[in-house]
Amino acid sequence: MLAENQDEMFREKAKAAARPGLLSRMGKRLIYLRGLALGAKRRQGWFMENLTFRKAFNMALTGTQFALKNERMFALPVAVKIDISPMCNLSCTVCVHADPNGNPGLEKQVFDPKHRMSVDQFKRIVDEVKGVSAAVSLYYIGDPLVHPDLDEMCRVARDAGLNIHISTNFSFALTDARIRRIAESGLTHISVCVDGLSQEKYQLTRVGGRIDRVLSNLRRLCEVRAQLKQEYPKVEVQYIKFQHNVDELEAAQRAVESFGVDQFTHFWGSLANYTDGDPDVYEIQSPKPRRGLPQCYWPHSSIVIKYNGDVIPCCTYRIGQQYTEVDDPRILGNIFKTSLREVWNNQQYRLARRMVSDPTIVERDLSLKDHFCYGCPALFETTEDNNRRNAKSFRHEDLYDMGPDGRPIRKPGAVTGLPDRRAAMVSQVGLPGGQFANI
Ligand SMILES: C[S@@+](CC[C@H](N)C(=O)[O-])C[C@H]1O[C@@H](n2cnc3c(N)ncnc32)[C@H](O)[C@@H]1O
Ligand code: SF4
Ligand code: SF4
Repeated sequence: MLAENQDEMFREKAKAAARPGLLSRMGKRLIYLRGLALGAKRRQGWFMENLTFRKAFNMALTGTQFALKNERMFALPVAVKIDISPMCNLSCTVCVHADPNGNPGLEKQVFDPKHRMSVDQFKRIVDEVKGVSAAVSLYYIGDPLVHPDLDEMCRVARDAGLNIHISTNFSFALTDARIRRIAESGLTHISVCVDGLSQEKYQLTRVGGRIDRVLSNLRRLCEVRAQLKQEYPKVEVQYIKFQHNVDELEAAQRAVESFGVDQFTHFWGSLANYTDGDPDVYEIQSPKPRRGLPQCYWPHSSIVIKYNGDVIPCCTYRIGQQYTEVDDPRILGNIFKTSLREVWNNQQYRLARRMVSDPTIVERDLSLKDHFCYGCPALFETTEDNNRRNAKSFRHEDLYDMGPDGRPIRKPGAVTGLPDRRAAMVSQVGLPGGQFANI
């Protein structure tokens, strides 16, 4: 009975979020644009600091080519996201590193300490973009502090005039010497995720993490930076809000601001898992209509390079398909087999720009169903909304039980209303020319 009621509640909430109609579509567009503006404001330092004429010109050219919907780019990516290693020390509930608990979507993830970019490989990327791109960010779905050569990579990028951003859980036992090396590495921007102030609440989502370590590392990093009289690295604390930790937000803000962090950001977190956003667990209905501007800025402005040189256009889609041995990650190319510049304008990249400029192109070219961007909610009407569990509307206990070891175990799909991969649905697409079963 309880399960049935909860199921209904989830369906109602999800339906409200996915309500069709013009107002809802306009609302979603406004939310999207607001998110974009807030994100840009929050991240402007990574791009706007240490600008040179060439970098500013590249940025302006990017904007122009985006607005013109150009498929071939003369500009280079403004931001280069490099997954120096997908390994992580934690198992956050949101992540591909989450405890699988029998979920095949998580069980199929394969991570190995050998999955690591070398400093030489990193240098090759930096050599291709230095002087033109504004920033590199050194993570995707792992923690950059796991990579033993992180400091050296930061030095290489900084010497090339690039801004360097990392996001980390910072839940590591770091010595004073290690903290000093980070501060002196040339790193320009660091975001530290804080999901609560008490250990009891923090570990509900940051599974395996220790908040005392995070806070100690933050305090010592700010101290060392002050001792060194350095402006960098600029420190952002991201307080990821959940119903269970909002009561600790103000105290957390006071604590980290007393250390001297530069920015305190808070936003509602996701209680679902990245694999709930993979296209094999929702329905792809129809492409969105063509609009004045491209409907996603990634393919014109940024590039994501995995540790082995494989390239994908963004870090927001097909996340659960990137590190498995059973899925096709649909890469656009490999920069170590050719070069970044070649991949940036290859056929796959140009198709990505074509799709974001006019998603309906898929109706005329069915081969695009094999492209990375196919089925992305930025370009297609989908039921993906039903798989979101924003912490503003949902509680941790709605989705998770606590295991005997104090680690969260996700409740079955019948209770959460989330896809149960044990009975994975087959997506169907209502497009002319037949139904796409292979998404
Ligand atoms: C996948 S993590 C990888 C980097 C690093 N390991 C970390 O956790 O910061 C990248 C980003 O995911 C976001 N993130 C982490 N947990 C989240 C959650 N539960 N809800 C929403 N965003 C989250 C944070 O903004 C973080 O900067
Ligand atoms: S969210 Fe970040 S810290 Fe958490 S498991 Fe994923 S990569 Fe690791
Ligand atoms: S998959 Fe979606 S978010 Fe990613 S680049 Fe393509 S359209 Fe943009």
